[in-house]
Amino acid sequence: MIAIRQERKTDASARELLLDRAYGPARFTKCSARLREDRLPAQGLSFVATEGGAIVGSVRLWDVSAGSGRRALLLGPLAVSPEHQSKGIGGKLMKQAIATARMRGHGAILLVGDAPYYGRFGFSAEKTASLAMPGAYQQDRLLGLELQAGALDGASGTIGATGRFAPKPELGVLVAAASNRAVKRPTPRAA
Ligand SMILES: CC(C)(COP(=O)(O)OP(=O)(O)OC[C@H]1O[C@@H](n2cnc3c(N)ncnc32)[C@H](O)[C@@H]1OP(=O)(O)O)[C@@H](O)C(=O)NCCC(=O)NCCS
Repeated sequence: MIAIRQERKTDASARELLLDRAYGPARFTKCSARLREDRLPAQGLSFVATEGGAIVGSVRLWDVSAGSGRRALLLGPLAVSPEHQSKGIGGKLMKQAIATARMRGHGAILLVGDAPYYGRFGFSAEKTASLAMPGAYQQDRLLGLELQAGALDGASGTIGATGRFAPKPELGVLVAAASNRAVKRPTPRAA
């Protein structure tokens, strides 16, 4: 049975392995990654999907500014392990993330992704045309969802990271994580 729960600190290596499998190394080159690096995710807005205790899906949201001083969340990455895709897990993670963001009083969620997938959750490019990501991306893939009516009205400017800075990991921890992933990593799929 699939369960959705808040991510825990001890989920980190399983989550990173899952993201490697779902996206491959290209995940580090995406402009959304620039807004996440060195930051902690938004409080209470990291979720995993588990099956029998194993992590099979992940989504996290990040604090950003949507242009001049307007607060928003940036969603991503959303990933479901290749063997568990098309069983509704991505949808469950998205619904949990959106409902919790709304409950916590956030006004809007932004993401860079496929409108045919994210449209089913209410995301569109309707109010994001004057917003920009730092780096290369396709403008029609920059999507927004208002959690409060009008939260993205007149939004313009470059999206910037505003989340708390993550504590710097020790070099030994990084080396151990990298060699662990190098051993376990299967053939990456394109994002
Ligand atoms: C995208 C992803 C998170 C969806 O998770 P999932 O658990 O398979 O999603 P769900 O089961 O809730 O929904 C599956 C449906 O979404 C569709 N879908 C999946 N990815 C899609 C995409 N990029 N564009 C349009 N539709 C998509 C599937 O075809 C399926 O359609 P159906 O319900 O008509 O059969 C997952 O496929 C994944 O991790 N992909 C690799 C990483 C990735 O590309 N993520 C970002 C997408 S922009």
